[in-house]
This record gives sequence, structure tokens and C-alpha cells, in this order.
Amino acid sequence: MAISKVSMEPIDHVVSANPIPPTTPVGKPPKSVFGDRDHDDTSITAPTSAENIRVAVRIRQYISKKDDKEVDCRSVVFNEAKTVFATYRLPLQEGGKDEKRSFSFDHVFGQSASQEAIFLELFRIPMAKFIRGFNVCCFCYGQTGSGKTWTMLGGDKPETVGMIPRALTEIFAHIATQKHKKEFKVTVSAVEIYNEQLKDLLNTTAAVDLRIIEHKTQGVSIKNLTNLTVETVNDVTSLLELAVASRVVAATQMNATSSRSHMIFSVTLCQQDIADEFGVTKLEGVMHLVDLAGSERQSATGATGATLKEGANINQSLSTLGNCINGLVAGAAHIPYRDSKLTRILQNALGGNSSTLMIANVSSTNANVNESVSTLRFADRAKQIMNHATVNFDPKNTKFLQLLEENKRLLARVQELEARKMKSSICSLM
Ligand SMILES: Nc1ncnc2c1ncn2[C@@H]1O[C@H](COP(=O)(O)OP(=O)(O)O)[C@@H](O)[C@H]1O
Ligand SMILES: [Mg+2]
Repeated sequence: MAISKVSMEPIDHVVSANPIPPTTPVGKPPKSVFGDRDHDDTSITAPTSAENIRVAVRIRQYISKKDDKEVDCRSVVFNEAKTVFATYRLPLQEGGKDEKRSFSFDHVFGQSASQEAIFLELFRIPMAKFIRGFNVCCFCYGQTGSGKTWTMLGGDKPETVGMIPRALTEIFAHIATQKHKKEFKVTVSAVEIYNEQLKDLLNTTAAVDLRIIEHKTQGVSIKNLTNLTVETVNDVTSLLELAVASRVVAATQMNATSSRSHMIFSVTLCQQDIADEFGVTKLEGVMHLVDLAGSERQSATGATGATLKEGANINQSLSTLGNCINGLVAGAAHIPYRDSKLTRILQNALGGNSSTLMIANVSSTNANVNESVSTLRFADRAKQIMNHATVNFDPKNTKFLQLLEENKRLLARVQELEARKMKSSICSLM
């Protein structure tokens, strides 16, 4: 295999500079995960429970620069069977020789995969579930500079738009096709977790006390977090722009980069049939779209003092994420969701009532291979979790629907008996 000519910029020194996606996409509208089909619910193939946690790997594309030197990009490669091979050198104390590990995943994307191709392949199931009232979560995991923010938010050209804006466009495209028979309400919130502190990205002026609360039936939510109703795709992309801008400002004030914080952008879709006067067809699902901080280990970054503390807190969320995944895979009785803010908020997405998609972003260069192997191991464990996603439908409504059916049946029976009675009295008169 040829050695790629790529940038020599070390991956953990790349500062995320992703432009904010455009509010109004120019050019062709993005392709829908539902193809040219009508979005009528029955035309979409129902996802199976085995598809509730899916793991994809994206190997980062390198952009060559003027003063490029040759960089070996052969440390992470994959084949058509979606097996990823990572070749790395063991430390001297472990023999210092080359080791090759292989991992298999549901989806693997190489350096040339487009944002559109990734969205169409990965988001068909989450979108189909979300519009049917399921909870959905998508997050990217990987070291700083591996392309997480690029994958989730993308660039400013129509072809480089990332997963979050594409998913938002898709939600409103679906609403447009169903508006004649359903009423929809879409609300949006955005929260940042930095140093284990929560920050409302849609309201940065007032200092509010954001608190994670747990409701018996509705699950975990954040008290006092701004939740705004949106009517159009432009409304929602403007809020995404606001959230991304607030995150960047906060990062600058704290002399940090946004790659050290986690951002959770959440969309709640509430729907009900127009003809339904009792509210029994009401469905509600939440889609969490997450841009995580870099997963690199502190020993690799040489951090000290405040940076080390901050790193420890970032790692508290990420290491708890790892512990929760390990616990879920091992079938542990106690899963430590409460040990970090990230895992508490995403509790449903991990081993709960959610259809979850994880995209593991890795670099293919030799210099980053240890972090890449650690990301691949993490992704490999996550693959083994079994989630039990169910549609968010009020159980009271099931009983109510049964009673309505029974009522209809009894009315028909009464009408039938009355008709028979009338027929026999006519006969007796003749
Ligand atoms: N597939 C890609 N195509 C073009 N640019 C990319 C791609 N992946 C990453 N980049 C660029 O590389 C840099 C680091 O990526 P970023 O998404 O910020 O990494 P992370 O969020 O994992 O720290 C950014 O400048 C980003 O624009
Ligand atoms: Mg980032």
C-alpha cells in the first residue's frame, strides 16, 4: 500500500476550527434517509431490537498542506468485511515488537467517505425510530483532532454539512409530509458539560442553577435548562449555531478549546393524530446528538496543574462512560451512571430505552496508533451492549384505546340487535 502524503500536524495539537453549518443550506437539498419514499410510517422498514446499539468507525481524512512531509498512514486499515486492523508497536518492557489487532464493526468508513454517505448509512434506523416515538442518541468518541466535531457538525459547504444539521433537516422534512394528519411540537435544548459543570448553551446571560433530576416515568432531565419550541428547520439551525457559538465563547473565556467539553444537543418530538380528540395517539421521543471531548489519556498529553484537574474531570465523564459500558457488557447489578454528569444525562442511551449510535473516530497515522487502538477497544466493548428501546407511549392510553374499541364493538352489536328487532316486528305485522 502506498504511503499517503499528509499533513505532519500532530493530531492532538489540532485546534478544532469547524465553521458553523449554514442556516440555509445552499445548492441541492440533502438526500433523505428515506429516499424518494413518502414518509408514511408504514413504508419504513421497522428496525429490529438487535439494531438498538450500533457502532461505526470513521478513519480520519487527512488534508495535505503545502509543506507536507510524508506520514505513514498505514497503522489503521480496514477491509470489505468491515474488519479494522491496527498495527502498533508494544512498549519496550512488553517486548517492543509490532502487534496487530483486528476488530469487526457494523459500519466502517474510510478516509474518502462523504458526510452524506455516512448520514444515509447510519441515520436511517435512528430517524425511523425517532419519528415513531423512540428515544435516539448519537455520539462520536475519539481523541482530539480525530474528526468528532467535523462528523457531528461538519463544514459550511452543502456536501460537508455534518450529522446534526442533516438530522435536523430530516426531522422537518418528515413533519412536512405528515402535517395533514398529525400535529407536531418540536423543542430543543443544548447543554455543555465542562469540568463536570453544566452550562445552558441557549441561555448564556442568566446564571441559572442547572440540576439533573430523575422523574419516575419520564426519566432523567435537567431542571431549569432552556427548552425552546421551534417551527422550522431555520429556527432549529439558528439555535444550533447559537449553541456552537456559546460553546466557543465559553471555551475562549476559560482559555480552553471546545474540544475539552461535551455538548449535548437534544431535540424532543411530540406528535399526535389530528383526528384524535382524546390524545391517545400521543408519542414523544428525544434525540440526543452529542459531541464529546477528546478521549486522550492524560499521560499522553503531559498536562499538569489546572489542566490536569480539568483533564481528570473530562476523563471522569469519559472514564465513567467506559465503566458503564463495561458494567453493561458484564451484566453488572450496579451501573455507575451517577458517577458523572455525562452518563447520568445519557443514562437512557446506554443500556436503557434508546436506540443508540456510536461513531468511533480514529486517525490512521502511526503517531496516533495507541490512542486509535484505545478508541477501537472502547468501541468494541460498546458493541456488546443490549438496549431495550420501546416506543414512548403512555400505557394509560393503551387501556383507553381498548375501552374505545370495546365501546365501538358494543355499539355495533346494539345497532345490529335493533335492526333485527325492527325486522322481526315488520315481519309479524305482515
Ligand atoms: N473528514 C474530514 N474532512 C475534512 N476535514 C476534517 C475531517 N475530519 C477532521 N477534519 C478537520 O480536522 C480538524 C480536527 O477535527 P475535529 O472534528 O475538530 O476533531 P475533534 O472534534 O475530534 O477534536 C478540524 O479542523 C476539522 O475541520
Ligand atoms: Mg471536537
